Amino acid sequence: MSAELNLATKNLNKMGFLDLEVDPTLDLVEAINQLKKEKNAVILAHYYQESEIQDIADYIGDSLGLSQQAAETDADIIVFAGVHFMAETAKMLSPSKKVLLPDLKAGCSLADSCPAPVFRKFKEKYPDHKVVSYINCTAELKTLTDVCCTSTNAKHIIDSFPEDQPLIFAPDVNLGRWLVKETGRDMVLWNGSCMVHEIFSHEKIVKLQMKHPEAAFIAHPECEAHILDAADHVGSTSSLLRFTRESGHQEYIVATEPGIIHQMQKASPDKKFYPAPPNNSCACNECPHMKRNTMEKLYLCMKHELPEITLPEWVIEKGVASIDRMLEISAKAGL
Ligand code: 13P
Ligand code: SF4
Repeated sequence: MSAELNLATKNLNKMGFLDLEVDPTLDLVEAINQLKKEKNAVILAHYYQESEIQDIADYIGDSLGLSQQAAETDADIIVFAGVHFMAETAKMLSPSKKVLLPDLKAGCSLADSCPAPVFRKFKEKYPDHKVVSYINCTAELKTLTDVCCTSTNAKHIIDSFPEDQPLIFAPDVNLGRWLVKETGRDMVLWNGSCMVHEIFSHEKIVKLQMKHPEAAFIAHPECEAHILDAADHVGSTSSLLRFTRESGHQEYIVATEPGIIHQMQKASPDKKFYPAPPNNSCACNECPHMKRNTMEKLYLCMKHELPEITLPEWVIEKGVASIDRMLEISAKAGL
């Protein structure tokens, strides 16, 4: 091992990634494709990744699609171009495979808002309740969960419980409130939120609507209730993408992480997409965690097979049941 690689490996946990120089003349697309073949690796990318990463991925999708792919792939290595909880989920579903994440610090404010030890105490107050957790949570939280869900399947998961079964929903309070409204089912909600979706500015969205009066306004259910109330369509990233493909509108104001606009634009090149503005000085609202992954980090992590996601065996054994159950219910519902 070279001295540089040795030092970068030592500093891996501090930096989150292998801090090595990449030759600026290297064709990263070609090099990554070569590594995919050599190592029988598959790249799974979330819609919020930067467009170059989306374009080189073997599969691009929402959280449900990515879990389904992670459970089914016959690759030896899963490279997860997404955030930490997604790579953990892939590891739980395919524990014998090597799972790589280009940057270990690609976390999630929503997952961080629900620490497992605190949630365990909270849960003790509701001994008769079952727990439905949004998949955007830590592996340890999944060990305290009966069934996971994503925004694509959440209504089906909640409806799968008998009507008289009391439920706790964690960790996203905005998605939870939206689901209470949609399913008509009262649930105890954990008060967590996503740093991206909670800061859309209604005032700026209204101004944008005045500029583009024909545009449909679409929003992810992680947004706050007053934003969702104003939306023409609410849904997961895949649902928003489908809506832009299938609806007759020619323009859309999009209240979710703007990475998804890459696929929207590809699917409907003649339509126009405007990212909804947040309540700060930025014009769009990128997830700083998702955007920690870069082509260079992707290349380095595939080349050196680091950083790798590992989990204690008990966490995999106990936590995977909640994801398996989610996949079973989704398959039955044809999702
Ligand atoms: P979906 O792609 O499942 O809608 O999830 C959105 C999200 O916030 C992922 O971090
Ligand atoms: Fe987490 Fe929000 Fe980023 Fe998704 S967009 S990874 S929920 S912080």
